[in-house]
Amino acid sequence: MLACLRNLLLETLLDITIQQHDSTSSQNDGDVYLPTVDGDFLLSVSSELTCQGRFVRMPVIIGGRCNPFYASEYNYGGVFTHQITIENLLGLYPIEDFNPNTKANLSAEFYHTAQVFWDILLACPSFLFGHAMVDEFTEDDSYEAPDGSVLVPPVFLYSFNQTIFTPSLESLGLAGLGVIHTSELVYIYANFTLYNTTGVIHPTSSDFTLLNQVSRSWSSFATTGRPTIRGKDTLQEWKGSYQPGAEMMDVSVYVVGGSDLGMSTSTEFDSHDRSIIIATFIFVKFHKINPLR
Ligand SMILES: *[C@@H]1O[C@H](CO)[C@@H](O)[C@H](O)[C@H]1NC(C)=O
Ligand SMILES: *[C@@H]1O[C@H](CO)[C@@H](O)[C@H](O)[C@H]1NC(C)=O
Ligand SMILES: *[C@@H]1O[C@H](CO)[C@@H](O)[C@H](O)[C@H]1NC(C)=O
Ligand SMILES: *[C@@H]1O[C@H](CO)[C@@H](O)[C@H](O)[C@H]1NC(C)=O
Repeated sequence: MLACLRNLLLETLLDITIQQHDSTSSQNDGDVYLPTVDGDFLLSVSSELTCQGRFVRMPVIIGGRCNPFYASEYNYGGVFTHQITIENLLGLYPIEDFNPNTKANLSAEFYHTAQVFWDILLACPSFLFGHAMVDEFTEDDSYEAPDGSVLVPPVFLYSFNQTIFTPSLESLGLAGLGVIHTSELVYIYANFTLYNTTGVIHPTSSDFTLLNQVSRSWSSFATTGRPTIRGKDTLQEWKGSYQPGAEMMDVSVYVVGGSDLGMSTSTEFDSHDRSIIIATFIFVKFHKINPLR
């Protein structure tokens, strides 16, 4: 089967994938190809394999953006069916910490549900996996990057904080959603026009600068294992999120875009903006140097 797939043209594979996605998305919300435990290729669920350290260790960039969008579909009763779970969650996330957006007609509960939902679905797994990737990683495992600096450890968590989608969302009657899920793809793939499906996007000079830096950080990471190259037009001072031996939440995350760009610790995060958290996973494989176990 693998040989057959490898012999197909990329276009053929892509067409089949899009067809299957489109014809089944009403039943699976677009999640066609999720990991399936088959006892052969995948021996256990990914959370267990992560906790057991059974995965390939390599430098990764993991990140994204909290997206309140799904809160319109999921409410407390819909997402969390057990009353006890709802009570526990309300204790962990006091409703007073969330403000309504009256201009956008969105309630505090909307933002609250969105935060809980995304923390469970995407933020926590990102920290779990990012930390597992560097767990048992010591100073001895560090190595010299092509620019001469020492690379430890190779997990770069980010939170994206800038978007060109605000006018598009407003034109679709979806104001108040902030920096939505997938906002970073425009900058990573370096093409505003491609994402201008509504015809109302207006990138600023700050967006153009960010597009250069982000696309170059991602391509630098793919070739050198580092998202920052000094003296080049990449995002600057983006360091590994974990020091050797650090606990899972003893972490720093790079805030990409917005007014406070740069490394930020998880505590700074909390006080800044509770809605900052990891949403999509972008794994850029790093093939050239792989000194990791
Ligand atoms: C605001 O949202 C509520 C609840 O979703 C809805 O009933 C109401 O019609 C909305 N008001 C406006 C002005 O859109
Ligand atoms: C951006 O995408 C559009 C549409 O696919 C394409 O025509 C254009 O050449 C791309 N621009 C760049 C800079 O790659
Ligand atoms: C977006 O589309 C509109 C309408 O086609 C066009 O006027 C505008 O220049 C486009 N902007 C970008 C950045 O592609
Ligand atoms: C995100 O950007 C906004 C506006 O640019 C800023 O007010 C906010 O502090 C930023 N959040 C973080 C965590 O840097």
